[in-house]
Amino acid sequence: MRDYEILANPSEVKTDSVVLQQKIKALAKQKNALILAHYYQEEEIQQVADFVGDSLGLAKKAKETDKAIIVFAGVKFMAETAKILNPEKKVLLPDLAAGCSLADNCPPEEFKKFIDAHPDHYVITYVNTSAEIKAMSDMICTSSNAEEIVRKIPLDKKIIFAPDANLGRFIINQTKRDMVLWEGSCIVHEAFSIDKLTNLMSKFPEAKLIAHPESEEHILKIAHFIGSTGKLIDYVKNSREETFIVATEAGILFEMQQVAPDKKLIAAPSHEDNTCACSECAFMKVNTLEKLYQCLLKETPAIELEKDLIEKANIPLTKMFELS
Ligand code: 13P
Ligand code: SF4
Repeated sequence: MRDYEILANPSEVKTDSVVLQQKIKALAKQKNALILAHYYQEEEIQQVADFVGDSLGLAKKAKETDKAIIVFAGVKFMAETAKILNPEKKVLLPDLAAGCSLADNCPPEEFKKFIDAHPDHYVITYVNTSAEIKAMSDMICTSSNAEEIVRKIPLDKKIIFAPDANLGRFIINQTKRDMVLWEGSCIVHEAFSIDKLTNLMSKFPEAKLIAHPESEEHILKIAHFIGSTGKLIDYVKNSREETFIVATEAGILFEMQQVAPDKKLIAAPSHEDNTCACSECAFMKVNTLEKLYQCLLKETPAIELEKDLIEKANIPLTKMFELS
């Protein structure tokens, strides 16, 4: 068995999926709904979306839309962000079980104690958090603008950065700012095997390793380029190189191959994987085309947040848009 997988052509979409996609598109039009999808969604979901993007791009689209309903094909923290930005709109998530290991491992009570233990610190949280955590923060960032935002915080301010310690360490390296980190991590990006990866790089010496900053430090150290999902896609599209080993969730390969059809893309191998050698986020993958259709049809499950929580969480989110 190979311990790597080369993407050839994007797979054919099944006929019943095409029918469902047509029904979803018609329903979205009829209901004046905007369908947003993250790059980690199944390709048949990405194909039906009005916009596919990274966390920052999706938040911007959610902020700008004049549609009555937003259907978020992504994980819960993304849909909550859309709701915070659009309290009066209906924001639907096909499956409320679409969590995130980073958001889930940063509970509000524990985080409150962490903040209290570090008085006078400016609290920057990654967008991969619950609305409660956002409400306790001074500023939000995404993997796409984290460095830019940290660089804009006055040097005399002490900083807490949470919840992704890998992203935090990467930003410390880039900016040389001393930050207190919450030790959270993403289960998908922590699963890459450095041994399998170096082995793969020796088999494909011409390949460039590109990685998401949620990956561990030893992966980032050997990466040729590091960026958010959107930046990784742009890099492959604009690069003169032909072969790339991609260290992030495998759903990204669909859009990457669409925008760069001549490039050879190889999914970075993870520790446990004995079948396809690619890393998948189980939270992202709980959404299916059928669930997307049902949720749009029945207009449930919807994201519900208290007015007071929305108001508090909106403050650091608005600051993020002002700074990036
Ligand atoms: P991006 O902001 O790069 O899309 O990242 C979202 C995410 O969940 C990465 O695991
Ligand atoms: Fe969360 Fe990681 Fe999944 Fe992204 S890939 S949603 S950070 S668990």
